[in-house]
Amino acid sequence: ALPRDLEGRRVVVSAGGTREALDPVRYLGNRSSGKQGYALARVAAQRGAEVTLVAGHTADLADPAGVRVVRVGSAIELRDAMHAESREADVVVMAAAVADFRPLALSSSKIKKGDREPEPIRLAVNPDILVELVKARPTGQVVVGFAAETGDETGDVLHHGRAKLARKGCDLLVVNAVGDGLAFEVEDNAGWLLTAGGDEHPIPHGSKSRLAATVWDAIGPLLRT
Ligand code: PMT
Repeated sequence: ALPRDLEGRRVVVSAGGTREALDPVRYLGNRSSGKQGYALARVAAQRGAEVTLVAGHTADLADPAGVRVVRVGSAIELRDAMHAESREADVVVMAAAVADFRPLALSSSKIKKGDREPEPIRLAVNPDILVELVKARPTGQVVVGFAAETGDETGDVLHHGRAKLARKGCDLLVVNAVGDGLAFEVEDNAGWLLTAGGDEHPIPHGSKSRLAATVWDAIGPLLRT
Protein backbone atom coordinates (compact mmCIF):
# COMPACT_ATOMS: atom_id res chain seq x y z
CA ALA A 1 0.00 0.00 0.00
CA LEU A 2 1.12 3.55 -0.66
CA PRO A 3 2.05 5.75 2.30
CA ARG A 4 -0.56 8.42 3.22
CA ASP A 5 2.22 10.82 4.13
CA LEU A 6 0.67 13.75 2.21
CA GLU A 7 -2.67 13.63 4.03
CA GLY A 8 -3.85 17.17 4.78
CA ARG A 9 -1.25 18.78 2.46
CA ARG A 10 -2.22 21.05 -0.42
CA VAL A 11 -0.10 20.70 -3.52
CA VAL A 12 -0.08 22.40 -6.90
CA VAL A 13 1.61 20.73 -9.87
CA SER A 14 2.07 22.15 -13.37
CA ALA A 15 2.26 19.85 -16.40
CA GLY A 16 2.44 19.92 -20.16
CA GLY A 17 3.70 22.50 -22.60
CA THR A 18 2.69 26.09 -23.21
CA ARG A 19 1.59 27.35 -26.62
CA GLU A 20 2.48 30.88 -27.68
CA ALA A 21 0.17 32.18 -30.38
CA LEU A 22 1.47 33.72 -33.61
CA ASP A 23 -1.93 34.19 -35.20
CA PRO A 24 -5.40 32.62 -34.77
CA VAL A 25 -4.23 29.23 -36.06
CA ARG A 26 -0.48 29.01 -35.31
CA TYR A 27 1.69 28.83 -32.22
CA LEU A 28 5.17 28.10 -30.90
CA GLY A 29 5.11 25.04 -28.67
CA ASN A 30 7.15 22.12 -27.37
CA ARG A 31 6.97 18.35 -27.11
CA SER A 32 5.87 18.01 -23.48
CA SER A 33 3.11 15.40 -23.17
CA GLY A 34 2.26 16.23 -19.57
CA LYS A 35 2.89 12.62 -18.51
CA GLN A 36 5.48 13.50 -15.87
CA GLY A 37 3.37 16.25 -14.31
CA TYR A 38 0.24 14.07 -14.35
CA ALA A 39 2.17 11.28 -12.64
CA LEU A 40 3.31 13.71 -9.92
CA ALA A 41 -0.29 14.84 -9.38
CA ARG A 42 -1.70 11.30 -9.39
CA VAL A 43 0.87 9.96 -6.92
CA ALA A 44 0.36 12.95 -4.58
CA ALA A 45 -3.41 12.35 -4.57
CA GLN A 46 -2.88 8.63 -3.92
CA ARG A 47 -0.71 9.60 -0.94
CA GLY A 48 -3.47 11.74 0.53
CA ALA A 49 -2.77 15.28 -0.76
CA GLU A 50 -5.36 17.75 -1.98
CA VAL A 51 -4.05 18.31 -5.50
CA THR A 52 -4.52 21.01 -8.12
CA LEU A 53 -3.02 20.25 -11.53
CA VAL A 54 -2.42 23.23 -13.80
CA ALA A 55 -2.18 21.72 -17.27
CA GLY A 56 -0.95 23.32 -20.46
CA HIS A 57 -1.12 21.43 -23.73
CA THR A 58 -0.79 17.68 -23.17
CA ALA A 59 -1.23 14.40 -24.96
CA ASP A 60 -4.68 12.85 -24.57
CA LEU A 61 -4.42 12.05 -20.84
CA ALA A 62 -7.27 11.23 -18.47
CA ASP A 63 -7.65 13.55 -15.48
CA PRO A 64 -6.01 11.82 -12.49
CA ALA A 65 -8.59 10.55 -9.97
CA GLY A 66 -9.44 13.02 -7.21
CA VAL A 67 -7.38 15.85 -8.73
CA ARG A 68 -8.73 19.30 -9.64
CA VAL A 69 -7.51 20.22 -13.13
CA VAL A 70 -7.11 23.83 -14.34
CA ARG A 71 -6.34 24.22 -18.04
CA VAL A 72 -4.15 26.94 -19.52
CA GLY A 73 -2.67 27.76 -22.92
CA SER A 74 0.16 30.28 -22.89
CA ALA A 75 2.98 30.89 -20.40
CA ILE A 76 1.23 34.06 -19.22
CA GLU A 77 -1.95 32.07 -18.50
CA LEU A 78 0.10 29.41 -16.71
CA ARG A 79 1.77 32.10 -14.63
CA ASP A 80 -1.55 33.67 -13.59
CA ALA A 81 -3.01 30.26 -12.67
CA MET A 82 0.10 29.24 -10.69
CA HIS A 83 0.09 32.45 -8.66
CA ALA A 84 -3.63 32.13 -7.93
CA GLU A 85 -3.49 28.43 -7.02
CA SER A 86 -0.23 28.35 -5.07
CA ARG A 87 -1.00 30.97 -2.44
CA GLU A 88 -2.26 28.46 0.14
CA ALA A 89 -0.20 25.49 -1.01
CA ASP A 90 2.29 23.50 1.05
CA VAL A 91 4.12 22.34 -2.09
CA VAL A 92 4.43 23.71 -5.63
CA VAL A 93 5.98 21.56 -8.37
CA MET A 94 6.77 23.06 -11.78
CA ALA A 95 6.97 20.12 -14.19
CA ALA A 96 5.51 22.10 -17.11
CA ALA A 97 7.68 22.96 -20.08
CA VAL A 98 7.22 26.72 -20.26
CA ALA A 99 8.15 28.65 -23.40
CA ASP A 100 10.97 31.04 -22.60
CA PHE A 101 9.83 33.33 -25.43
CA ARG A 102 6.58 34.35 -27.08
CA PRO A 103 6.00 36.11 -30.40
CA LEU A 104 6.30 39.85 -29.81
CA ALA A 105 3.22 40.54 -31.91
CA LEU A 106 0.04 38.50 -32.14
CA SER A 107 -1.53 38.83 -35.58
CA SER A 108 -5.32 39.12 -35.37
CA SER A 109 -5.70 37.52 -38.82
CA LYS A 110 -3.97 34.50 -40.30
CA ILE A 111 -0.51 35.43 -41.55
CA LYS A 112 -0.54 35.25 -45.38
CA LYS A 113 2.15 33.64 -47.48
CA GLY A 114 2.36 36.61 -49.90
CA ASP A 115 4.99 36.79 -52.60
CA ARG A 116 7.78 38.53 -50.71
CA GLU A 117 10.43 37.24 -48.31
CA PRO A 118 8.80 36.04 -45.08
CA GLU A 119 9.06 38.40 -42.12
CA PRO A 120 11.25 37.13 -39.27
CA ILE A 121 9.38 36.23 -36.09
CA ARG A 122 10.35 38.65 -33.34
CA LEU A 123 10.23 37.31 -29.80
CA ALA A 124 9.62 38.73 -26.34
CA VAL A 125 10.94 37.08 -23.15
CA ASN A 126 8.35 35.33 -20.99
CA PRO A 127 8.45 35.73 -17.22
CA ASP A 128 10.27 33.00 -15.30
CA ILE A 129 7.34 31.58 -13.34
CA LEU A 130 9.45 29.39 -11.06
CA VAL A 131 11.62 32.33 -10.02
CA GLU A 132 8.49 34.41 -9.37
CA LEU A 133 6.89 31.63 -7.31
CA VAL A 134 10.02 31.27 -5.17
CA LYS A 135 10.03 35.03 -4.52
CA ALA A 136 6.29 35.11 -3.71
CA ARG A 137 6.11 31.99 -1.58
CA PRO A 138 4.61 31.98 1.88
CA THR A 139 6.83 30.81 4.76
CA GLY A 140 7.31 27.07 4.79
CA GLN A 141 6.12 26.40 1.24
CA VAL A 142 8.32 23.90 -0.61
CA VAL A 143 9.02 24.76 -4.25
CA VAL A 144 10.31 22.15 -6.70
CA GLY A 145 11.55 22.71 -10.25
CA PHE A 146 12.36 20.45 -13.15
CA ALA A 147 15.13 21.06 -15.63
CA ALA A 148 15.34 19.66 -19.12
CA GLU A 149 18.96 19.75 -20.19
CA THR A 150 20.81 18.62 -23.28
CA GLY A 151 24.46 17.69 -23.01
CA ASP A 152 26.88 15.15 -24.45
CA GLU A 153 28.18 14.13 -21.07
CA THR A 154 26.46 13.47 -17.76
CA GLY A 155 28.78 16.12 -16.32
CA ASP A 156 27.39 18.79 -18.66
CA VAL A 157 23.80 17.99 -17.76
CA LEU A 158 24.55 18.12 -14.03
CA HIS A 159 26.61 21.29 -14.42
CA HIS A 160 23.66 23.04 -16.12
CA GLY A 161 21.32 21.64 -13.49
CA ARG A 162 23.38 23.00 -10.58
CA ALA A 163 23.54 26.44 -12.18
CA LYS A 164 19.78 26.37 -12.78
CA LEU A 165 19.04 25.38 -9.17
CA ALA A 166 21.11 28.34 -7.94
CA ARG A 167 19.46 30.75 -10.39
CA LYS A 168 15.90 29.64 -9.67
CA GLY A 169 16.27 29.39 -5.90
CA CYS A 170 13.92 26.42 -5.45
CA ASP A 171 14.35 23.73 -2.74
CA LEU A 172 14.69 20.77 -5.10
CA LEU A 173 15.45 20.49 -8.79
CA VAL A 174 14.88 17.34 -10.83
CA VAL A 175 17.28 17.32 -13.75
CA ASN A 176 16.30 15.29 -16.81
CA ALA A 177 18.63 14.67 -19.72
CA VAL A 178 16.59 15.39 -22.85
CA GLY A 179 17.18 14.55 -26.48
CA ASP A 180 16.29 11.76 -28.83
CA GLY A 181 13.73 9.54 -27.07
CA LEU A 182 14.45 10.95 -23.59
CA ALA A 183 12.07 12.50 -21.04
CA PHE A 184 9.67 14.33 -23.40
CA GLU A 185 6.68 12.28 -24.65
CA VAL A 186 7.99 8.84 -23.60
CA GLU A 187 6.69 6.68 -20.73
CA ASP A 188 9.92 6.57 -18.70
CA ASN A 189 12.21 9.13 -17.19
CA ALA A 190 15.48 9.30 -15.24
CA GLY A 191 17.79 11.97 -13.94
CA TRP A 192 19.13 13.52 -10.77
CA LEU A 193 17.57 15.11 -7.77
CA LEU A 194 19.53 18.16 -6.62
CA THR A 195 18.84 19.81 -3.28
CA ALA A 196 19.42 23.44 -2.34
CA GLY A 197 21.82 22.11 0.31
CA GLY A 198 24.07 20.64 -2.39
CA ASP A 199 23.08 16.96 -2.28
CA GLU A 200 22.80 15.03 -5.55
CA HIS A 201 20.95 11.75 -5.94
CA PRO A 202 20.70 9.86 -9.21
CA ILE A 203 17.16 8.76 -10.08
CA PRO A 204 17.31 5.44 -11.94
CA HIS A 205 15.48 4.90 -15.21
CA GLY A 206 11.88 3.91 -14.57
CA SER A 207 8.27 4.90 -15.07
CA LYS A 208 7.23 8.51 -14.59
CA SER A 209 5.16 7.31 -11.61
CA ARG A 210 8.30 5.84 -10.03
CA LEU A 211 10.12 9.13 -10.52
CA ALA A 212 7.14 10.97 -9.06
CA ALA A 213 7.24 8.75 -5.95
CA THR A 214 10.97 9.45 -5.53
CA VAL A 215 10.30 13.20 -5.74
CA TRP A 216 7.49 13.04 -3.15
CA ASP A 217 9.77 10.95 -0.88
CA ALA A 218 12.34 13.77 -1.05
CA ILE A 219 9.73 16.49 -0.44
CA GLY A 220 8.28 14.80 2.66
CA PRO A 221 11.10 15.68 5.09
CA LEU A 222 11.03 19.34 3.91
CA LEU A 223 7.38 19.85 4.88
CA ARG A 224 6.63 21.88 7.96
CA THR A 225 5.33 19.83 10.85
O1 PMT B 1 5.59 16.22 -20.22
P1 PMT B 1 6.43 15.02 -20.49
O2 PMT B 1 6.36 14.59 -21.95
O3 PMT B 1 6.14 13.89 -19.55
O4 PMT B 1 7.98 15.42 -20.27
C1 PMT B 1 8.40 15.77 -18.98
C2 PMT B 1 9.34 16.98 -19.00
C3 PMT B 1 10.65 16.60 -19.70
C4 PMT B 1 8.69 18.17 -19.72
C5 PMT B 1 9.59 17.34 -17.50
O5 PMT B 1 10.15 16.25 -16.85
C6 PMT B 1 10.52 18.54 -17.36
O6 PMT B 1 11.73 18.44 -17.33
N1 PMT B 1 9.89 19.74 -17.25
C7 PMT B 1 10.60 21.02 -17.23
C8 PMT B 1 10.94 21.36 -18.65
C9 PMT B 1 11.51 22.71 -18.74
O7 PMT B 1 10.85 23.61 -19.23
O8 PMT B 1 12.70 22.91 -18.22
P2 PMT B 1 13.52 24.27 -18.21
O9 PMT B 1 14.91 23.83 -17.94
O10 PMT B 1 13.26 25.07 -19.45
O11 PMT B 1 12.92 25.07 -16.99
C10 PMT B 1 13.38 24.90 -15.67
C11 PMT B 1 12.25 25.09 -14.68
O12 PMT B 1 11.75 26.45 -14.74
C12 PMT B 1 11.04 24.20 -14.88
O13 PMT B 1 10.54 23.86 -13.60
C13 PMT B 1 10.07 25.09 -15.64
O14 PMT B 1 8.74 24.73 -15.37
C14 PMT B 1 10.39 26.46 -15.07
N2 PMT B 1 10.19 27.60 -15.99
C15 PMT B 1 10.86 27.68 -17.16
C16 PMT B 1 10.71 28.79 -17.98
C17 PMT B 1 9.83 29.83 -17.58
N3 PMT B 1 9.64 30.91 -18.34
N4 PMT B 1 9.17 29.72 -16.42
C18 PMT B 1 9.34 28.63 -15.61
O15 PMT B 1 8.73 28.55 -14.54
